[in-house]
Amino acid sequence: MNRWNVYVTNEIPKPALDMLEEYCNIEVNRTGEVLSKPVLLEKVKGRDAVLCLLTDPIDAEVMDAARGAKIFANYAVGYNNIDVSAATERGILVSNTPGVLTDTTAEMAWALLFSVARRVVESDKYSRMGKYKSWGPMLFLGQDVIGKTVGVIGAGRIGLSFAKRAKAFDMKVLYNSAKANLEFERETGGEFVSLETLLKESDFVSIHTPLLPATLHLIGEKELDLMKESAILINTSRGPVVDEAALVKALQTGKIWGAGLDVYEFEPEFTQGLLELDNAVVCPHIASATIDTRTKMGIIAVTNILAAMKGELPPNCLNPEVYSS
Ligand code: DGY
Repeated sequence: MNRWNVYVTNEIPKPALDMLEEYCNIEVNRTGEVLSKPVLLEKVKGRDAVLCLLTDPIDAEVMDAARGAKIFANYAVGYNNIDVSAATERGILVSNTPGVLTDTTAEMAWALLFSVARRVVESDKYSRMGKYKSWGPMLFLGQDVIGKTVGVIGAGRIGLSFAKRAKAFDMKVLYNSAKANLEFERETGGEFVSLETLLKESDFVSIHTPLLPATLHLIGEKELDLMKESAILINTSRGPVVDEAALVKALQTGKIWGAGLDVYEFEPEFTQGLLELDNAVVCPHIASATIDTRTKMGIIAVTNILAAMKGELPPNCLNPEVYSS
């Protein structure tokens, strides 16, 4: 079998790169920076496969520059950065990395929820600034989590994993998604409700929906207005699902109590005012960032490329019709 010529748009964990290098000639962008569009267009030329990231916009122009490429293997479960129909039209496979990052991402949503509810980041800063002089009955009062109601938007793999953990905190689970999901209800005891009911009744709202035309700005001013003043919004899905300017306003005015964010509407930029808010915890899109998970994501992306190289359907192919047409 001919060794494929593969471009990797950013450094990923070594075991995955070693596996790829065993069978392919590889070039890796080791600058640590996201490639600009002109550089990306240049680098993909003449490749058989491209291992790309969620930060690489893989549109028709990139695919045409990569004429001859058989697969774009995304190093992410989300693939809103790739124009899958343009790839299908050109007979190019697209794959993603589902499954392995489910629990890790759900875990991060809980980490954010607790951080905001118990004001962990804010009080850590306070201690480091030398401000802690004595125990105080009013110092950093937060919100209890146990026994509260959590609203889960999106009942896919990550939403389910997140909701399952709510049992440990005796919480009531409400959920909303495109349609009711019986497995979700069986495993979490969750009740399927309208988005409006979920927003009105939840103490914590956690978003786990993909970014689609239907979910763009799913949470905006009107939806934030429905939430309780004591409520906390968590987003580990995709930034544009939330209208960030409306969220900043809701946090500034105390319309909601807090937010825990891992993703941003204009990533890596933050909407003006967000970083000044003490009631927001802002992480740099690290929900899947554990050593194990990021390694597994790499192995999966490479497995998809190697399957395509053997003429097989990649296990996580998003457009299998490329092979059947
Ligand atoms: C994904 O995979 O879509 C996450 O956002 C990054 O791991």
